[in-house]
Amino acid sequence: MRQKIVAGNWKMHKNAEETEDLLNELIDKIPTDIEQRVIVAPTFVNLSAAADHLEFTNIEVAAQNMHQAEGGAFTGEISASMLKSVGINIVILGHSERRAYFHETDALLANKVDTALKHEMEVIFCFGEELKDRQSGQHFNVVENQLKDGLFHLEASAWKNIILAYEPVWAIGTGETASPDQAQEMHDFIRDTINKKYGNAVSEDVSILYGGSVKPENAAEIFSKPDVDGGLIGGAALKSEDFTKIVLAI
Ligand code: G3P
Repeated sequence: MRQKIVAGNWKMHKNAEETEDLLNELIDKIPTDIEQRVIVAPTFVNLSAAADHLEFTNIEVAAQNMHQAEGGAFTGEISASMLKSVGINIVILGHSERRAYFHETDALLANKVDTALKHEMEVIFCFGEELKDRQSGQHFNVVENQLKDGLFHLEASAWKNIILAYEPVWAIGTGETASPDQAQEMHDFIRDTINKKYGNAVSEDVSILYGGSVKPENAAEIFSKPDVDGGLIGGAALKSEDFTKIVLAI
């Protein structure tokens, strides 16, 4: 179901004590009577404690990644069932940093998506073009291929557990935010691409988040666009004041 969502991707930040401190600040600052969903994604080592800490709040917890296998000799990896066992039911997959630094391909991500859905997890599927793609006018083709190769094997019914996060790589961590019109243009293209494959029952029901240098100063204008359903926030998610302002900007 299409929803307003603000999710914070903490990446490799905040130890156990810092995580508890930030969660307490967010619990204090974020109103409980809001309709938008609020999700935070701490690092693996802090997920169990975060899930316990937030159990009776309106703040949800997501993992930043997971392995596609059910288990086995994959040193350092985490499986879907392990995440579920500590109360984690949402996972971010395909973040550009996983694609770039850990060479995660669309085919591998399709397998990860399948495993997450098999365990009835919600997936925040990340994708987006690099600067060279946009400069060469290939950004629509790149995004279309990421969607097709990562998600278009799914049955229409599976999309109820998919949240999309369009994150132009050139806007991540750079301060170079996509303009609201650029975000809307791509989100409209994404929704239309899904409509052509699945029809508007799916395309009008999927939440499409924007990620890439969202800040308190620009969030409201980006979120005001018709095909932007919220944001996936990096740096600004690490500051309770900023993240709360972004949550309330939607
Ligand atoms: O996953 C969200 C992240 O990639 C965006 O980072 O710091 O540009 O908000 P940032």
